[in-house]
Formats: sequence, structure tokens, C-alpha cells
Amino acid sequence: MEVRLADGRTIPVEMHKIKIVQQTYFLNIDDRITAIREAGFNTFLLQSRDIFLDMLTDSGTNAMSDNQQSAMLRADDAYAGSESFVRLQEAVRDIFQMRYVIPAHQGRACEHLLSRVFVKPGDVVITNYHFTTTKAHINIYGGEVVELIHDEGRITTSTNPFKGNLDIKLLEKAIAEYGKSKISYIRMEATTNLIGGQPFSMENLKAVSKIAKKHDIMLMMDCSLITENAYFIKTRESGFANKSILDIVQEMLRQVDLIYMSGRKSTMARGGMICTNNHELYHKILPQVPVFEGFITYGGMSTKEIESMAVGMREMVDVNVAGSGAEMINFFVHKLESLGVPVVTPPGGLGCHVDAMKFVPHIPQLEYPSCALAAAFYIVSGCRGMERGTLSMDRDEQGNEVPSDMELLRLAVPRRTFTMSQMEFAADRLAWLYEHRDLIHGLRWVEEPPVLRFFIGKLESIDGWETRLMDAVRADSRIN
Ligand SMILES: Cc1ncc(COP(=O)(O)O)c(C=O)c1O
Repeated sequence: MEVRLADGRTIPVEMHKIKIVQQTYFLNIDDRITAIREAGFNTFLLQSRDIFLDMLTDSGTNAMSDNQQSAMLRADDAYAGSESFVRLQEAVRDIFQMRYVIPAHQGRACEHLLSRVFVKPGDVVITNYHFTTTKAHINIYGGEVVELIHDEGRITTSTNPFKGNLDIKLLEKAIAEYGKSKISYIRMEATTNLIGGQPFSMENLKAVSKIAKKHDIMLMMDCSLITENAYFIKTRESGFANKSILDIVQEMLRQVDLIYMSGRKSTMARGGMICTNNHELYHKILPQVPVFEGFITYGGMSTKEIESMAVGMREMVDVNVAGSGAEMINFFVHKLESLGVPVVTPPGGLGCHVDAMKFVPHIPQLEYPSCALAAAFYIVSGCRGMERGTLSMDRDEQGNEVPSDMELLRLAVPRRTFTMSQMEFAADRLAWLYEHRDLIHGLRWVEEPPVLRFFIGKLESIDGWETRLMDAVRADSRIN
């Protein structure tokens, strides 16, 4: 819930109380420098014990509810035919109104199964925007991703409420160009992760659906952040203010043939699943599950995860749950804007996204400005964000770098996890860093993996700039 205060500010008011907490640690500046050097300037390789606020991702890091935790106690550990899976099926039928559920251990496992079944060498997958793991699986099976994001999707600051829209004119053109037989499917990502968690509108989804039906092309939705997208439709699209999140979710899902999701985000659990009402699609995918994931009633998830996901499905459509992340992000983004820090607007789902091209414009894309900014932010604050830029792209087949559309430092806001004072702390340290941005320089590779290199690659600073940043932190008694 958002409330307006007498002083004119709008603040998020969380509709829950905190029952269990986890201690975090604030290392001194020398230890933070040692930690980031050992991590190869890659925040993925920092240890939890080195981090004060973990804003790496909202994936699997959200606070579960008491009902989710207690449901985990009744997990039925049958290898086949588990009661826990029956409860997940019931939740999917009630909430998504979908008959068939294929469990998988997480979102990328669904992407693997779907690419394996539907992508042939030389095919294309049309999407509003790619996600790293989605693209990796499509490429592995010989397909290519064609992004048809609406113009404003690639602009960091805008007032367009639906920057995740797919460009309808380009869609008709692409179908004419590639031909139906070459298009594996059309994929709509509900809030586009890599360009700032930006949603698409219901109007846009319906237009895409109409075209997909006309050409008899499968339409699939990545529902990992479905409730955030539905929350933005409710709060930003005319005609939806009085509809419930459940109604909006169901209206969205009626437009598509099949969905998949990482259960680690909107459902605040762990795991993943593919759902459909289409018998034929279901039976094409199902035989792959025992080969790659596990039996068809657990698909690589523990039964505890399945129980928490089933409850999470029912809880995520409560407007206060669906909006809890988005409202905290809204507060964080506006706080940073007021401090002059360049951020992606309008605020999206998932987290706050800092525009590294504006923050450190002196660092060329091939020296990984977003990664350098993420490392620098850790050094000054103990907070861990994530690079979402050129480093998150893999090289092309010839080994050339592929500069990304945007260079972003993503500061994820896991749902129900941080307080407003922690957001204020992170914003304050980022504003300090912005004042000292000239001290941040580029990075170069030490160990570069061939695929999804951002996860485990290691880098070093080009000229030892982190020492100068450390000295600046030490010299400021307010922040050291
Ligand atoms: C939109 C989207 N799709 C797929 C995935 C992959 O899911 P997982 O991390 O569960 O493998 C993610 C994860 O961040 C995501 O944001």
C-alpha cells in the first residue's frame, strides 16, 4: 500500500510484520577491497558474509510468508504422485486457470525444455526483449532471438508506462520476412528483466495475441514476474483500476498458448514450471521431464519447494503482495532521482536500475562500465548489485563483443526483505559515489567463460582505480 504524508511524500507501507530475520555484516573498507578483488570485480563471486544489503537479485531471495513456511512441513516426499504436486496443480488451476503443469527445477530449466522441444537450427524466436538464460538455451538449440521491443524500451528515461511493449508493426513485418515455418514461437516477457523490469500493457498483449492467432504461431509468456506486470496494468492502464490482480492475471493468460515461470520471483518460493491448457503441447514437452529434471510430479524441485510455490501462487495475487516490491522500488527510484543519480524511469519491477552510461560516461562499453559501477558501489556501501550490460551479453560466433543496448547497475529489491531505512542508506551511498564517479575506471578480463560469462567470469581493474576509491572513502569520516 502507498500512502501520502502531510509533507507531500508518498511512501510504501508494507502490509506484513517481520517474524524472522537474518544477520548481515558490514565489513570495513579494507576487507571490502580484499573481497571485491578476490571476487574478480564480479559481484556474483562475493560471499554472503561479505555483504551488508544483498541487491544482486530478487530471485529466490524474497521473504516467504508464515503460510508458505508452514506448508513446507506437510511436504509429501513421494517420488511419484506426491500430494504436494497435487496442491500445486490445484493452485495453477485456480489462479492461472490452466490444466496442465510441468514442474522444473527453476526458470532456465523450463527454457531448456522449451528450446529443446520447439527450437530447430535456423529458427527464430520473436520476443519483446531477451533474457540471458532464455537466449542461451535458444542459441544452444541453433535458434536466434529477434527482439521487437517498442522504440522507447531502449531509452532509459521516459514517461511511457509500458516500455516492455512489443512493436506490433515490426511483428507483422518480421512474420512476413521469416515466414511462419521459421518462427518457433513468440515470447512475451512479463516485465522485461534486462531493460529495467518494464511491463507491457494488456492492449499490447492482446494485439500480439491476435496476430499470433492469425498466423497460427504459438504465443508463450515468461511469467516469472507476472504479478508485477499485472500490478502495473492495474495502476497504469486505463480501465483496469477496479479490477483485481487475479482478474488481470487471468485475462493476460487467456491470451497465450503456454506459460513458463521461475517460481523464485512472484511466487516467492523456489523452482519453476510450464503450464498450458493445450493437450498436444503438454504431451510434446512431458517426456523430456524425467530425462532432464526428475519425475513429472517433482521435476527437480524438492516437495518443500513445491508446497511453498503452491501457497505463493495464491498469495501473489493479493494486491498488497503483488505491489510490495513495485512500491518499494518506486520509493527507491524517486529517492535516487531526487539525489541526482541517473536511473531508469518509469520505475519497473524487480529493482532499481542505475544508468551506467550516464553515471560513468567516461568508461567505454568494452571496459564494462556497469560491472565497474557494481564493484565500486560494493566498495563504498557493502551493498551488492548486479551488472546488466555488455558483460551480460556473450560474444558472437566470431568472438566479437556485442555491446548491449543499455548499461545498467541493477539494484534488485527482493520482496518483503528490506526496510525503507536500508533503501535510504543505499541511496545515500550511491549519491556519494556519483559525486566521486571520476574515480571509477574500467575493467578487463582475467578469466572469461564462453557462455553466460557474467555469472562466473573474473576481471581486474585497468589501472588500480579501486585503491583511489578506497582512499576517498577513508578520507570521508561520514561514510568510512
Ligand atoms: C524473466 C526471467 N526469465 C527467466 C529467468 C530464469 O529463471 P531462474 O533464475 O529461476 O532460472 C529469470 C531469472 O531471473 C527471469 O527474470
